[in-house]
Amino acid sequence: MKYAHIIGWGSYIPDRVLTNNDLAQIVDTSDEWIYKRTGIRERHIAAANETTATLAFEAAARALVVADLHPSQVDLIIVATSTPEYIFPSTASQVQDYLGATRAGAFDLSAACSGFVYGLDMATQAIATGSINNAIVVGAETMSRVLNWRDRGTCILFGDGAGAVVLKGSAVPGGVMASTLRSDGSGGDMLSLPAVYHNPVPTLGVEYFQNGHHKNTISMDGRQVFRFATKVMSASIKTTVAKAGLSLDEVSLIIPHQANTRIIESSAKRLKISPDRFYLNVQNVGNTSAASIPIALCDAIDDGRLHPDENVVFVGFGGGLTWAASVVKWDVSPPTISRRRREWKRARYIYARSRSKAKRWRRKVVDRFSTPPIPEARLKDADKE
Ligand code: COA
Repeated sequence: MKYAHIIGWGSYIPDRVLTNNDLAQIVDTSDEWIYKRTGIRERHIAAANETTATLAFEAAARALVVADLHPSQVDLIIVATSTPEYIFPSTASQVQDYLGATRAGAFDLSAACSGFVYGLDMATQAIATGSINNAIVVGAETMSRVLNWRDRGTCILFGDGAGAVVLKGSAVPGGVMASTLRSDGSGGDMLSLPAVYHNPVPTLGVEYFQNGHHKNTISMDGRQVFRFATKVMSASIKTTVAKAGLSLDEVSLIIPHQANTRIIESSAKRLKISPDRFYLNVQNVGNTSAASIPIALCDAIDDGRLHPDENVVFVGFGGGLTWAASVVKWDVSPPTISRRRREWKRARYIYARSRSKAKRWRRKVVDRFSTPPIPEARLKDADKE
């Protein structure tokens, strides 16, 4: 039996900031309303040349530097996302290629804002059984691409970003100690994002895409989601802490899905603990869905809120409905890595991209020269028909 320890972490937030005042230029809202109801001041928006996969790659590459692991040592990459650029290839396969993680399996995981915790548990179980030894779990989203920018009830909430952790198997007890995963599909309509094929197609062909196609966007019943979130957050924290054989007093920090400060305050009240025991960065990044917990984890480490031998709880909730919590015994100190070493490590990704390009070219060349020609007689037969 092996234990899955978090040995690396990294996040990436796009540069472009969208403040509440900027949003007030787009929809009928105000900085005061948004901040009072959600705790959000600003969020970040991906640039035109950024995708969920590029954000995920940046976070994963940073996490590998902290873990001091070569990409070829990674056995599994899981990307939790609701905003993949493609259904297939998966975002995880794109990240695998960008990293040059040549010996890794890769898949995407869809559990909305709970996705990172789901992914963490999946990777932990794979490590515990001995099926793999090292894994990268990423939460990455470009929520800005699936928002209805005319709906003030949803477009004010979300932002873009990615966060990642590297897990490593070890015989030393610790790491991810317990998790609880739950779902209630009966509440699926409270928070939903239709897939591409969900739209009826009026006319097929290019015209449809030019004229008839409308982008699928998030819809939400804010009040119902609020009620659901406060209930499941406190319950899943309690259940998972007990599963890990701990009491709430033994938990130093709770890193919740960053949706809304009021949801977190209500959960603290239900648990009869101070809201200070929850880490919050929603004010600067908004709700980044599956990316929110790993981004908050990185910020909490930077803020000096996590120390070796402390117990930390991750808790998420969202569309599905889904919710999930994990208890982690934190057993690493942030390593000091020189800038030069960091830059040297980044050079390997330039090599990975060139190798990926070379592989594509090689496939084309092989294809060009190895396709068996169609016998002329068969071509003539086809002409007759
Ligand atoms: N700016 C100004 N007014 C707004 C507004 C905005 N951005 N959005 C809604 N309003 C208005 C409504 O139109 C309504 O006006 P009315 O009373 O004249 O009809 C009023 O504010 C109250 O709307 P309501 O939707 O009841 O507000 P609320 O107190 O429930 O707050 C949310 C709305 C979305 C902030 C809140 O429901 C929430 O945080 N829910 C959870 C959402 C969440 O976290 N989702 C992601 C989960 S992963």
